[in-house]
Amino acid sequence: MNIFVENQEIERQKAIAKSLGPLVSGKKACVITFGCQQNENDSERIAGALALCGYEITKESDSADLIIINTCAIREHAEIRALSEAGQFKGRKEKDRSVKIGLCGCMAQQAHRREQIYKSYPYVDFVFGTDMHHRIPEIIKTALESKKRFSFITEKPHNEFGIISEGMPVCRESRYKAWVPVMYGCNNFCSYCVVPYARGRERSRNKADVVAEVRSLVESGYKDITLLGQNVNSYSGGCDFAELVSECATLGGEYRLRFMTSHPKDASSELIDAIAEYPNVAKHFHLPVQSGNDRILKLMNRKYTRVQYLEKAMEIKEKVPEISLTTDIICAFPTETDEEFADTLSLVERVGFDMIYTFIYSPRKGTVAAAMDGQIERSVANERFKALSDLENSIAQGLNDQFIGKTVRVLSEGIGKNGAFCGRTTQNKIVNFDKYVPEGEFADVSVESAGAYVLNGKII
Ligand code: SAH
Ligand code: SF4
Ligand code: F3S
Repeated sequence: MNIFVENQEIERQKAIAKSLGPLVSGKKACVITFGCQQNENDSERIAGALALCGYEITKESDSADLIIINTCAIREHAEIRALSEAGQFKGRKEKDRSVKIGLCGCMAQQAHRREQIYKSYPYVDFVFGTDMHHRIPEIIKTALESKKRFSFITEKPHNEFGIISEGMPVCRESRYKAWVPVMYGCNNFCSYCVVPYARGRERSRNKADVVAEVRSLVESGYKDITLLGQNVNSYSGGCDFAELVSECATLGGEYRLRFMTSHPKDASSELIDAIAEYPNVAKHFHLPVQSGNDRILKLMNRKYTRVQYLEKAMEIKEKVPEISLTTDIICAFPTETDEEFADTLSLVERVGFDMIYTFIYSPRKGTVAAAMDGQIERSVANERFKALSDLENSIAQGLNDQFIGKTVRVLSEGIGKNGAFCGRTTQNKIVNFDKYVPEGEFADVSVESAGAYVLNGKII
């Protein structure tokens, strides 16, 4: 099966985009994004294609003639947020029928959600799936010409679904931070997770395409580049992932190379060695553990044990002592007992994570875990969530205290949300400092105090 979209098809889409010029001239488009970095990058690609059609890209949905909501389906909360966002546009559409509203992303990929959108959100004009981004020009042409609602969704089942398209433009949000997808989809089928159904099978971009994209970003002054994939260690586009990292880390100049996400069963020693070897590979490893108990890990279909995870974490800490280790944990997975949850707490203490993204288990229609007996009560889930947060707050504070009195190199993010001058270290830790440094420039900061999730200091 050829998963690469033919060049001829990309050229056809570009020609459609060009032909829309007169229709689209002076119009604005807004893309609203929910979900992970993969979705953020998809939105940048959607915006790139919209710009090619002639739209001016705006962040203000109020003044936009075209609004696209890029959704996430990972937990119920994410879906509710996206639906409520869609609901915001009911009044707008009633006032102005010419405004076009589209919905895409992982939620759009699910038949039951599409049905709900069709029935309950009549002002959503069109829906498209996660492998339709290269067809945006055709989708927009249909939206402008047709009075009927429509959808662009692959008819293929999830075990055959998934393509790769190269060569369409990208409209990036930042001028110094960039996402570069290296692979798409997932084959792991963790029993709680919707991603393999929403994103299809694992497939890798060609090494030459990835390296060329990273090189052109470095040459245009990007300083923080993240290689993206649901499971980057499954990369197979002409070399293994460790080799890809070393190629992308040696392009010259000062920039940081990050990657997300690694599955513990596949995170290789070669990858850990690459982090240790190349100074500009960020000293941050996000290694989702999900649970510290073997029975729960097995029910989750994670394919590693507590001991194997601990060994991997220790190997990372030994080879890269300055590493920041972060993780994802799901609490209250079906049938999880208090004793089994205590195993998660003890693993967290043993490893000493710099940060934990804690989630309460959310049943996802069609997944194995959603059909399991023994779903846990919300009040118990909330207690476990709090216990984990309290424990992590004290661990993170202890780890950050070790930075006091040290000098850290930060990549400035300009002025943060709270009005402070801020930036990030190679460990991805946020640092607040005393003087303005333009966004995307490096500076050295002497750390004077620390909170659990922030360092404070003075520019040297
Ligand atoms: N591919 C990445 C994770 C992507 S989803 C990986 O395997 O590491 C990000 C996180 O969301 C997961 O690590 C998991 O902790 C959480 N998550 C996924 N499905 C969930 C569900 N049904 N309920 C609660 N949390 C979930
Ligand atoms: Fe979901 Fe597991 Fe794949 Fe991550 S590895 S995307 S958690 S199925
Ligand atoms: Fe959400 Fe899809 Fe990402 S479900 S987390 S947007 S892959």
